[in-house]
Amino acid sequence: MSATNDLLFRPLTIGPLELKNRIVMAPMTRNLAPEGAPGPANAAYYRRRAEGGVGLIISEGTVVDRPASRNQPGIPFFHGEAALAGWRKVVEEVHAAGGRMAPQLWHTGSTLGGGGWEPEAPVESPSGLLAPGKPRGVAMSEEDVADAIAAFAKAAAEAKRLGFDTVEIHGAHGYLIDEFFWSGTNLRADLWGGPTIEARSRFAVEILRAARAAVGPEFPIILRVSQWKGQDYAARLATSPEEMTRWLAPLVEAGANVLHCSQRRFWEPEFPEIDGPEGLNLAGWAKKLTGATTISVGSVGLSGEFLAAFRGEASESAGIEALLRRMEREEFDLIAVGRALISDPDWAAKTRDGKSGAPKGFERAMLAELV
Ligand SMILES: Cc1cc2nc3c(=O)[nH]c(=O)nc-3n(C[C@H](O)[C@H](O)[C@H](O)COP(=O)(O)O)c2cc1C
Repeated sequence: MSATNDLLFRPLTIGPLELKNRIVMAPMTRNLAPEGAPGPANAAYYRRRAEGGVGLIISEGTVVDRPASRNQPGIPFFHGEAALAGWRKVVEEVHAAGGRMAPQLWHTGSTLGGGGWEPEAPVESPSGLLAPGKPRGVAMSEEDVADAIAAFAKAAAEAKRLGFDTVEIHGAHGYLIDEFFWSGTNLRADLWGGPTIEARSRFAVEILRAARAAVGPEFPIILRVSQWKGQDYAARLATSPEEMTRWLAPLVEAGANVLHCSQRRFWEPEFPEIDGPEGLNLAGWAKKLTGATTISVGSVGLSGEFLAAFRGEASESAGIEALLRRMEREEFDLIAVGRALISDPDWAAKTRDGKSGAPKGFERAMLAELV
């Protein structure tokens, strides 16, 4: 028997969080928050995805309270009265439509945003590098590190206070937390760096411990991780399951209940040399090695992957049979859908009943406004 859509529409409980299905809206920066505060258009955009049947919405990256935590001017803050009032409205709208939501807490480190915009304060990173051999910004002092950890914890507490159902910490894609993980950008010899992945994970571990202390034992915390970086798509933090355990297990131990394992194509096996071309993907290995709940992602429902989409390549709507086969074998628990939910807020509902027509494909021009 072939796997059916029902696999996507089973509920899942994570502590106090009850999700009606396995579909997660992936975090997607839109750079359209006026003055850094989400307004009615942003709230309506998220509400439409909740109305369209998404189980859990993860917001675009929204930055913690550090002077140079964002690299584009339209990225929303997750601090300050105006921004937090805007976020409260967003989560109220999503709840009114039956959805659940997490903000994605972010610090862009020394990465470049689009359009050449520069923050007023100096950009910061573990060792003043953007990539191996590419200096950018300043190396963080001990005080900066402590302040950044406190900023993530405070934002997690705000998420809970505003009524969000969970929170995601962005530890992926070559931004600040990932710049600590990566040996290419973390050359520190103090407590926050070192030759092993455990040593370079200490910053993330301390963020998770502080966030966990701030939200209490029950509130779910999601950590997004990736092997790839915006600076180097081929980079890998863990080249074996053993190294992956040393990377991820302490993060789960420190307070992450859910690992959101970012890949550009969900069907790509992480260690094909061990379990072959149909082997477990990153989320599959993360679940197997740590026992945590995991979210997978990457090109669901579309013909092409997202970096090609940024270069202008259009993607057509595509079937989800391969996804259902992986869900059937319980490789991971949840699946995040990115661009397919920008192009079609009703992607979940259309996938469920198959009657109201095929979901729409994606083109870059769709990013110009919030629909
Ligand atoms: C316009 C756009 C903005 C994105 N912004 C973020 C972001 O703020 N945080 C993040 O973790 N990933 C971000 N991503 C990556 C997505 O969350 C997702 O992993 C990627 O698009 C692959 O999923 P898809 O193939 O379903 O689009 C972004 C992707 C797109 C297309």
